[in-house]
Amino acid sequence: MNELRIGDLSARIPVIQGGMGVGVSLSGLAGAVAAAGGVGVISTAQIGYRDPDFGRHPIECNLKAVGEEIKKARKIADGGIVGVNIMVVTRQYEDYVKAAVEAGVDLIISGAGLPMKLPEIAGEVRIAPIVSSRKALQVIAKHWKKKYDRKPDLVVVEGPLAGGHLGFSREDVDAYTVTHEKNYDDEVRSIIELADALETPVVVAGGVYERSDMEHYLAMGAKGVQMATRFVTTRECDASDAYKQAYINAKEEDIVIVKSPVGMPGRAIHNAFLDKVNAGERFMRGCRQCITTCKPDTAPYCITEALINAVQGNLDEGLIFCGSNASRADRIETVADIMEEFSK
Ligand SMILES: Cc1cc2nc3c(=O)[nH]c(=O)nc-3n(C[C@H](O)[C@H](O)[C@H](O)COP(=O)(O)O)c2cc1C
Repeated sequence: MNELRIGDLSARIPVIQGGMGVGVSLSGLAGAVAAAGGVGVISTAQIGYRDPDFGRHPIECNLKAVGEEIKKARKIADGGIVGVNIMVVTRQYEDYVKAAVEAGVDLIISGAGLPMKLPEIAGEVRIAPIVSSRKALQVIAKHWKKKYDRKPDLVVVEGPLAGGHLGFSREDVDAYTVTHEKNYDDEVRSIIELADALETPVVVAGGVYERSDMEHYLAMGAKGVQMATRFVTTRECDASDAYKQAYINAKEEDIVIVKSPVGMPGRAIHNAFLDKVNAGERFMRGCRQCITTCKPDTAPYCITEALINAVQGNLDEGLIFCGSNASRADRIETVADIMEEFSK
């Protein structure tokens, strides 16, 4: 079986568990995936949401929780690889990166924007940008080379079938996934070609659910895959049982593209909350300092609050982010079951 090499690290199974905010991939899930031979990734998005002081001091609580979750994941990981996912558009992004570095994380994966300054903040820690286009990788690689004489240790290519916020216009999501005017594999090939020239491994994310999906991308020259949706319906996933059950209950037609208040399209399960938002109801009880591109004065709802409600099981007031494959979930699995399937 092909191992996945990331700088001097090596994962026995070439599967990265994608970071899922808010609170869906914390130390429980990330630690279990790492222990099973993959790469476990903690999402730092509002990671401190369970702290009693979160309402008043969200960023301080988050920065404290970054170190705590990495430490907890390490204990579970049993020597396996633990990474964090930090979105570039996070307010005080640099402080989150520093907190992860200080806690001794193995890998920092960073998307939702171009992580231009990441090499400077991350120091020796391995770094991986998430890109959705060849152009984005070109811009990042050129800048990192010129300014820091550094290349990415890994590139995550995230396509339009992924979960959460998407790095595409709504038109492009439809062109790739509805009308099929465009074929995302063409872009994947082009990004792999560029990454090969940099001698940087590529993993592909978005719509990978079973082993044959991984084989498809390995045959195209990828060195592994990043999966998120498949890991939600595991015993170890850090979300509530109600959240996992929403995936199991979802049918294909329930999975929709929403316009997130932070400006990007996102994929989610259609529910009563989205009906209320579409009917013009506003859910904004204050700002929790999450994403730089949000305009709290005009946003229809607070994305932090909606995602926290969902992860805690208050689904009628929650936004249930998911990937295009959520309707394929039909039972709760263990991380070990999934990793076994991908290791054969
Ligand atoms: C519930 C959920 C939350 C997510 N949150 C984030 C996030 O906070 N930051 C990020 O970069 N990607 C996020 N993603 C994207 C995943 O990390 C991953 O790359 C993508 O979903 C892979 O596609 P798949 O879900 O089809 O496997 C999220 C995905 C899901 C399903």
